[in-house]
Amino acid sequence: MSGRIVELENVDKRYGEVTALADVTLRVDRGEQVVIIGSSGSGKSTLLRCINHLEAVDRGKIAINGATLVETVDGRVKYRREGEIRKLIMQTAMVFQHFNLFGHLTCLDNIAIAPIEIKRENPAEVRERARELLKLVGLEQKAGAYPGQLSGGQKQRVAIARALAIRPSILLFDEPTSALDPEITGEVLKVIRDLAAQGYTMMLVTHEMGFAREVATRAVFMDNGRIIEEGPPGSVFGAPESGRLRLFLKAVIKT
Ligand SMILES: Nc1ncnc2c1ncn2[C@@H]1O[C@H](COP(=O)(O)OP(=O)(O)O)[C@@H](O)[C@H]1O
Ligand SMILES: [Mg+2]
Repeated sequence: MSGRIVELENVDKRYGEVTALADVTLRVDRGEQVVIIGSSGSGKSTLLRCINHLEAVDRGKIAINGATLVETVDGRVKYRREGEIRKLIMQTAMVFQHFNLFGHLTCLDNIAIAPIEIKRENPAEVRERARELLKLVGLEQKAGAYPGQLSGGQKQRVAIARALAIRPSILLFDEPTSALDPEITGEVLKVIRDLAAQGYTMMLVTHEMGFAREVATRAVFMDNGRIIEEGPPGSVFGAPESGRLRLFLKAVIKT
């Protein structure tokens, strides 16, 4: 099996008149940590949402682990059948800015529900794994707590454990610390940093530029739905080629 986890070719996505993605081509290989940067509205969330099919594309091709999710043939967009799509997107797991935990379920059940209900795995084994994942994110004592009883940082750590529970090939982080108070972003960044060090494949949208530079094996800069520049973090952050990236970095690093 090839090491290519996600592949996008010439992807377009519009919301009515708004172009959110324009001719996006991007590949992510196993073990890469790809950081996506760009101003608000540049298409970063849409990119992740098209990969795990929270949004449908208008053109192009997306493949996950070498299997085509969608392709465009003679100008017509062709998605796989519903059941096959569901299987494919279970190979990706998203962590959202606003956690999106189920408020009526305990932390343990939030983590265990997808493997049990969707992947039909053995419930006792899944719960055991969920406990291990809670330990991994430093929250083993919160198994029986409800999300409403947790801090934002704790909620996000549960959400990361939930993402890991389906054993995805890639983790998709969409501004995982943007809703958190500055003093607690560190505890979430630490979990992500540890996962990166262990070689988990990930795409990470973040405004934490220092962290992005440190954790990325590759950085991608988007503007107006397009990938303008990509490369090793040393070049993208340290020696930007395009004027737009230089302006962006000046603006975000000043603040
Ligand atoms: N559900 C939606 N309906 C209409 N427009 C949207 C929707 N989601 C995003 N957009 C628009 O698409 C563009 C890209 O948005 P988004 O991917 O959220 O950017 P980013 O995550 O980089 O801030 C923006 O112009 C945004 O306003
Ligand atoms: Mg966004």
